[in-house]
Amino acid sequence: MRTIFWDDDTGTVRMIDQRRLPGALEVVSCRTHAEVAEAIRNMTIRGAPAIGAAAAFGLALAARESQAADLPGLLADLESAARTLGETRPTAVNLAWALARVLAAASRFTGPAGDLRGFVLAEAQRLADEDVEINRRMAAHGATLIDKGDTIIHHCNTGALAVVDWGTALGVIRTAHEQGKHPHVLVDETRPRLQGARLTAWELSQYGIPYEIISDSMAGFFLSTGQVQKVFFGADRIAANGDVANKIGSYMLALAAQDNGVPVYSVAPTSTVDLALEHGGLIPIEERAQEEVLGIQFDGQPVVPQGARARNPAFDITPARLVTAIVTENGIVRPPFEVNLPKFVRS
Ligand code: MRU
Repeated sequence: MRTIFWDDDTGTVRMIDQRRLPGALEVVSCRTHAEVAEAIRNMTIRGAPAIGAAAAFGLALAARESQAADLPGLLADLESAARTLGETRPTAVNLAWALARVLAAASRFTGPAGDLRGFVLAEAQRLADEDVEINRRMAAHGATLIDKGDTIIHHCNTGALAVVDWGTALGVIRTAHEQGKHPHVLVDETRPRLQGARLTAWELSQYGIPYEIISDSMAGFFLSTGQVQKVFFGADRIAANGDVANKIGSYMLALAAQDNGVPVYSVAPTSTVDLALEHGGLIPIEERAQEEVLGIQFDGQPVVPQGARARNPAFDITPARLVTAIVTENGIVRPPFEVNLPKFVRS
């Protein structure tokens, strides 16, 4: 099953509710672009390429919601919906990329106004289908980096749930597993929302890939004792110089890997590369509600004292100097990234 898909029978966008996993596999429906925006904001759907696809389908819904009778009116409604969808999460550039792509296609449309609705849906569908194909290509390139029997630390969730289908970094591991390379995964639990412990572990158990969950703070121990051959994670935005914005904790993981000579690979489609930003310091970092940090319980009791406060940046920047290579659908990009990334993004 795809993480997100269009349901023709009901005229809705359907998506796996990632807040309910691993306890329940539930599919929810969005009938309006505002409902899609809320699903992105509250992380019913999450992961950079997945929220890009969600935003594209959100525009398809907006086109159907619009009462406008002519093309300029419909386009104005689409632009307004794009603003609502684009404000939901700031770090993953795939969201803005998907909105811009669908809007650009819509603005080139010259047929009867009524046909624009089907045209926008077809463009969203195309974007989603291409995502699956792109993931397969990234996985094929990335799997060449995995040797038989490797133990890999993986951060956050980058599997089928983070995309339309297959996965970015986890897609690479899946393909290596299918090739008989027997990868073993140490799954960072990925505080505070536990995408690793909840989602990646669930996916790996579905695929029959052996794994063990570790707390994020254990990664240094496993790296420094020679128990890990590679680190793999995804990306939410990659600046022109190769700085990688990814789930909070990626930077510390990459630092510990570098100190122990373990290669760090970021796997991302070229839609995640933002050549307009010179370096990672320019990438907006989402800060989420403190409750995500404070809400954790132990033995059924809150862990923190009443009135405790917290900080909750959802992403950090791994500087390019800590990244061994970036795996894209067009191939494996090596440093110097500022020279090589544009060749892969534009090819
Ligand atoms: O906050 P999330 O769960 O949307 O963050 C997701 C990540 O950081 C992933 O690692 C990233 O999107 C790349 S994998 C598709």
